[in-house]
Amino acid sequence: MLVAEALANEIASLVAMAGKQGLPFSMALSGGSTPDLLFEALVTGYSGTPGWERVSFFWVDERCVPPDDPESNFGSAKRLLLRHINVPEANIHRIWGEADPASEISRYAGVLTGNLPVRNNWPEFDLILLGIGEDGHTGSIFPGNLGLFEADKLCEMTVHPGTGQKRITITGKVINNAKRLIFLATGHKKAHILEAIHKKTTESLNFPAAFVKPENGELIWYVDGEAGKFIR
Ligand code: 6PG
Repeated sequence: MLVAEALANEIASLVAMAGKQGLPFSMALSGGSTPDLLFEALVTGYSGTPGWERVSFFWVDERCVPPDDPESNFGSAKRLLLRHINVPEANIHRIWGEADPASEISRYAGVLTGNLPVRNNWPEFDLILLGIGEDGHTGSIFPGNLGLFEADKLCEMTVHPGTGQKRITITGKVINNAKRLIFLATGHKKAHILEAIHKKTTESLNFPAAFVKPENGELIWYVDGEAGKFIR
């Protein structure tokens, strides 16, 4: 079974369980290309899973572009997943990439506090799905933004160091307050970064993904053979 299929199976089980218990389920999605594999696996295998109607979708981060821009994380999720499952529009809480970033970080902070339970003074997600960049970034917390793991704000604006693209991201305390944090990493380009993080090398102290450490929740890695070839 491909790693994305295995993760899709776990997510579908979580969604179905929440559905059976009549509970809401909050999930924050990351962007980039890796989640596309997961979205396709979810649609192929689980689009009819009972429970999707109780799921609320949020985003870990968003590029500061309109939702119909090919770069939009929401746009990709909508195209590949959301329009194929029974999730009410009211349960989809996208980050407004088209808005002024300064106003959006406070608006989205309000969306989080208005739609999520609070635990330890921070909004609590049932599940946050994370990717990892070749430079060790996660969400849109890049090397050099490590202070965002101590930030008082729920959301912040960052700038992609390579492209200069403005981003909106949730911050580290929110990430680490989730009940369940799942990284999905595939491909040989991620192998070195995963090795550094898992072996806790000095170099990894520069990598934001190395600071993803749930306060009380679970941290789970879904890694394919190529990405995990140095940590088997
Ligand atoms: C984004 C993501 C980002 C992503 C990594 C990995 O908006 O780009 O949130 O953190 O997860 O950059 O991207 P790939 O999956 O494309 O390698």
